[in-house]
Amino acid sequence: MKKYITYFKQVRGISRDPFFKKGEKNSLEELKKIGSRTEVINKLVSSFNRQTTYLEIGVRDPEDNFSKISSALKFSVDPGFEVQENKADFPCTSDMFFQRLKSREWKGVPDQFDVIFIDGLHTAEQADRDIANSLEILADGGFIVIHDCNPPTEWHAREEFHFGRSPAGKYWNGTSWKAFLKWRKNKDIYSCCVDTDWGVGLISKKFLLGEATTLANEFYEYKKFDAHRKEFLNLINMEEFTHLINK
Ligand SMILES: C[S@@+](CC[C@H](N)C(=O)[O-])C[C@H]1O[C@@H](n2cnc3c(N)ncnc32)[C@H](O)[C@@H]1O
Repeated sequence: MKKYITYFKQVRGISRDPFFKKGEKNSLEELKKIGSRTEVINKLVSSFNRQTTYLEIGVRDPEDNFSKISSALKFSVDPGFEVQENKADFPCTSDMFFQRLKSREWKGVPDQFDVIFIDGLHTAEQADRDIANSLEILADGGFIVIHDCNPPTEWHAREEFHFGRSPAGKYWNGTSWKAFLKWRKNKDIYSCCVDTDWGVGLISKKFLLGEATTLANEFYEYKKFDAHRKEFLNLINMEEFTHLINK
């Protein structure tokens, strides 16, 4: 009985906690947003009006996104950490993939891609490296797509995936947003973030997605990011994105 009362107090405390309430509310709002990463990628692919090459880093279950991408040539990379059967074309980490691609270890793999989707290890350091490596193999006029760039609370943006008792519950965006924000400051590329599906970041060397941000967030503080996220990310909604890409 004593054990039950302690548990009840904890649960009641959590359900009244404003951080938990905000976390739940923000997760639900994110899930209701119009559009998805798959729709964004397919709109980019079809904007080429020709056969395209697509690369996805971090696939997990291909049925969730990879199989739905309407590109003529598709390649996937995943070490298979989260599945029993790894269906990726290249069953390895992204670092290994880029290293082997550069040393031309594989035959029949393009050396440039039109659209590259980065959705592997969601740490700032790894996402940053994946972006830098992807820029080297991005076709002229191509796009890099980065998932989870717009975490709705600091709990969604936590570093540790396995910590499940936070106000974000089972949802986790990691720290990829920091890598995207770093590249948002780069004046040699164009970038924006589509406000759907936890933030779909876009980078192009040629296509005018948006100018670099001049706002500073030297220490990548979440609260500062939250207060100015529209400017930091160059956040646009799905309708604005569709308009932009069809111009
Ligand atoms: C969020 S899931 C990918 C989801 C998928 N892109 C989708 O849209 O449904 C992340 C995947 O990244 C993989 N991963 C983890 N570390 C990786 C790394 N260093 N390189 C590539 N993939 C990695 C995991 O095994 C996992 O399958």
